[in-house]
Amino acid sequence: MVKVNDNYQKLPGSYLFSTVGKKEREYRAAHPDKKVIKLSIGDVTQPIAPAIIDAMHKSVDEMGVRETFRGYAPDLGYEFLRSAIVKGDYASRGMDIAIDEIFVSDGAKSDSANIQELFALDNVIAVGDPVYPVYVDSNVMAGRTGTYDPATGQWSNVIYMPCLEENGFAPMLPDKVPDIIYLCFPNNPTGATITRDQLQKWVDYANEKKAVIIYDAAYEAYISEADVPHSIYECDGAKKCAIELRSFSKNAGFTGVRLGFTVIPKALTIDGVSLNAMWARRHGTKYNGAPYIVQRAGEAVYSEAGRAQLKEQVAYYMNNAKVIKEGLAQAGYSVSGGVNAPYIWLKTTGGMNSWEFFDYLLNEASVVGTPGSGFGPSGEGYFRLTAFGTYEDTVEAIERMKKLI
Ligand code: MLT
Repeated sequence: MVKVNDNYQKLPGSYLFSTVGKKEREYRAAHPDKKVIKLSIGDVTQPIAPAIIDAMHKSVDEMGVRETFRGYAPDLGYEFLRSAIVKGDYASRGMDIAIDEIFVSDGAKSDSANIQELFALDNVIAVGDPVYPVYVDSNVMAGRTGTYDPATGQWSNVIYMPCLEENGFAPMLPDKVPDIIYLCFPNNPTGATITRDQLQKWVDYANEKKAVIIYDAAYEAYISEADVPHSIYECDGAKKCAIELRSFSKNAGFTGVRLGFTVIPKALTIDGVSLNAMWARRHGTKYNGAPYIVQRAGEAVYSEAGRAQLKEQVAYYMNNAKVIKEGLAQAGYSVSGGVNAPYIWLKTTGGMNSWEFFDYLLNEASVVGTPGSGFGPSGEGYFRLTAFGTYEDTVEAIERMKKLI
């Protein structure tokens, strides 16, 4: 008789952003007169930049002409996009990444969930706490995390690296040695970053312990400070121990368009086995490539006009981050993040836990955010706001929140 994958039954509750979305919809239905402001999921609000739209129009037209029509995309990505990535994101910053180390995909979320397939089930993962929930949930589904303790909110086979106020809300090297280390900088959800020298320590640690780092750099476009690395490959030895995940969602507004890529250096081998070759095999088997039109859109991100327009878009969101951070700080909230990242991490007020604060903010100010505890037990008592709203909504949300303190 057929059996289901029991690991799914171990997952406590639904996916964080599904729960938040459901609560928002229920509130809207019950209060049709209220203007709800959504600063919860990191979803963009600004339209796709004109240089990218032009590239999409052009490629749509190509699809209607026999001579330029394209069928299946190469499963690892079109060379025009992979070479634009190599030049734009790596060579331009002095990093030597080859085209065949780039794997184009439909986004960093799916890559961050799927990448664990390359590793044995008895590997132990280490995650920041709080953390983007996909890393943990995808390992739960695979059966790598052991048992869940509802009292602590922790899995028995996961090493948690608390991201607390005393360490600037960034993880420290763990006491127990993991096999797979998930790092995300600039960090989701806390907005924290580390310097190049600090990241070098992680790379040295991974090489020494023979661990692999899965480095999520989805928010690199938001880096404003010079000593914050844009890629883990800025560190010596990273090509031997690190996989990097990149997204077009946040830097180019592709949350609905869907495009991302993963870098797996050929130097990254485990017992003589190449992870690059394994991922290529996986991509070939399970994936038919991102659409041609979308990959042309991605190529336009690296054009001169695209770059200029996206710089403005990032500045627009970072101005929102400033409005949130400064506005809340002036009102007396305790806030961090928002300097190299589009997320602001704040302490709840009045001794409320994260979900109590969520309900309070929704009911008293019609503002939706994301409860810190949804990202992990150390997020309890914290709350995340995103800078991806419109400027007008952001200003209004902060004015409403100022009145609550
Ligand atoms: C978030 O809000 O954490 C992100 O938007 C989720 C994602 O990128 O999948």
